[in-house]
Amino acid sequence: MASIITIAHQKGGVGKSTLAVNLALCFQDQLNVALVDTDLQGSLYHSREEFPGLHIIGADHLRDIADLPHDLVLVDTPPYLSNKLPDLFMHSSFILVPTKAGFFDVMAIRSTLALVQDAQARNRNLKAGVVLNMIKPRSGITADVATLIETLGTPLLSTRIHDRVSIARSSITSGILRSTDQKAKDEITSLAEEIVGRITT
Ligand SMILES: Nc1ncnc2c1ncn2[C@@H]1O[C@H](COP(=O)(O)OP(=O)(O)OP(=O)(O)O)[C@@H](O)[C@H]1O
Ligand SMILES: [Mg+2]
Repeated sequence: MASIITIAHQKGGVGKSTLAVNLALCFQDQLNVALVDTDLQGSLYHSREEFPGLHIIGADHLRDIADLPHDLVLVDTPPYLSNKLPDLFMHSSFILVPTKAGFFDVMAIRSTLALVQDAQARNRNLKAGVVLNMIKPRSGITADVATLIETLGTPLLSTRIHDRVSIARSSITSGILRSTDQKAKDEITSLAEEIVGRITT
């Protein structure tokens, strides 16, 4: 049975799809990976020709997700709390919740984390983490936001993803690993490694 990493946050524009595709490409080096796009807008699914080596599956196949013949399935989700999330969370090994490092972004995270923690109460093996994304250089607010997240009951990952043009462009340039921006590559690789570490401990 495939391990499932779900990327979720009810807020739009926090980087769910960007991180989902870059993580999938990162894991693909070592594992047989699929990326499932459950967003009805289907942004990743519709741009699948940008990622020729990656198996991107549309939302219609969600019913069979646990039976996919892959080692690892990354699942991108839409910017609202869909009624499919509880079931998806129950089948997941890890839920990644990206957020921008703004105060209102963090306030918006609470209902997603409540759903995550509800799933964890029923599935003791389910791990989860919040990742700060699109961090602006010299942003003094990041430390305050990190402190606030740490009170919300889901771990804040130590990897942080900064606001980088190369990451914004990565969905039209076949992924960040193909870019020359070493710092961006290091951040995505570190995120992948941290998630694996948390799943396996
Ligand atoms: N670390 C980053 N640095 C710079 N730009 C980023 C970064 N992460 C994401 N972006 C950009 O932010 C925008 C929103 O990202 P993305 O579409 O991945 O968010 P999303 O959470 O999937 O949004 P939605 O919920 O609407 O599907 C995109 O234009 C993307 O290129
Ligand atoms: Mg998206």
